[in-house]
Amino acid sequence: MNIGILTGGGDCPGLNAVIRSVVKLADKQGDRVFGFKNGWKGVIDGSYTNLEREDVTNIIQLGGTILGTSRTNLHNIPDGFKKAVSMLKTLNIEGLIAIGGEDTLGIANDLINLPEDESFPNIIGCPKTIDNDLNNTDFSFGFDTAVTIATEAIDRLHSTAESHSRVMILEVMGRDTGWIAIYAGMASGADVIVIPEYPLTITEIISLINRRHQNLEKTYSIVVIAEGIKHEDLLGEESKKLLASIETPAKDSFGHEQYGGISHILAKEIQSRTKIESRAIVLGYVQRGGTPTPRDRFLATEFGIEAYKNAKAGNFGTMMALHGTKIVPIKLSDAISQLKRVPLELYNQCKLFFG
Ligand code: F6P
Repeated sequence: MNIGILTGGGDCPGLNAVIRSVVKLADKQGDRVFGFKNGWKGVIDGSYTNLEREDVTNIIQLGGTILGTSRTNLHNIPDGFKKAVSMLKTLNIEGLIAIGGEDTLGIANDLINLPEDESFPNIIGCPKTIDNDLNNTDFSFGFDTAVTIATEAIDRLHSTAESHSRVMILEVMGRDTGWIAIYAGMASGADVIVIPEYPLTITEIISLINRRHQNLEKTYSIVVIAEGIKHEDLLGEESKKLLASIETPAKDSFGHEQYGGISHILAKEIQSRTKIESRAIVLGYVQRGGTPTPRDRFLATEFGIEAYKNAKAGNFGTMMALHGTKIVPIKLSDAISQLKRVPLELYNQCKLFFG
């Protein structure tokens, strides 16, 4: 069988473990693996490498992706879908494993659902994103590593916050959802966690900090905030004043705003209103880089095994999903139909420890 594989969107720890898993199984069965370079871009350009067993030796522990990645949106490329389908057919790809998040898998779903004679239906998705926001899978790989890194960062902030009697505001990734903030914040004993799903206003945040400092006589506080918080949710009416002075964020090829910086505004506001020295830290890409945790390596390897098995069985139009302890194929369209947001029940649990 001719199997194609690509990694698209933001990179994340565990991508190489999936590639390794697919290539090793394919090698045993005598299948050929085409590794497309830089996501959908490689499919359009016909840029690929033949992946063999020796190419994937000793890569399970490596972050990033040996195939490279990009945020290539076929909708923005003239005849993008036509070119992709034509290349896949020319190369006689019989099954394509697309490893990505909502955007990369959204393109996969669009390719499947084109009119019959123009489509490429033989695609299987693997859920990758540190944001953990793909629908209908308990977890995506990469998330555990990002949470581990963010947790360690908060642990480290505790001691310096305490020494200087400061409020430390750590901004973590999470474009639309607060999964990293919730997991890392809860695991490291953050005093306030601010996420897009249930945003706290500045007044609520300050009252939690004041309660800690005045009633409990604490000298420092740790606030964790997800990057995707909207200024207007945080600052209400006052955001209008501030927004005039803030540059409009750039957008990526899928129209998503590029974030990174809300913590600075929050730190300034907290300091001016509480008179407690406050500092902002944007953790950023550190969360996505470097070696995956054992949990992510394991999960990514399992996703690879099942993606390969489902490709061999011709079970296309699916995404491999984690349900409990089992990897199961779900409809790809289900995975991208909506984002998986932090449920209120979980957020309320975290709130028990605020302030
Ligand atoms: O989708 C994962 C993610 O890391 C988001 O958390 C973040 O907002 C975005 O990617 C950053 O994208 P880029 O790598 O294009 O700057």
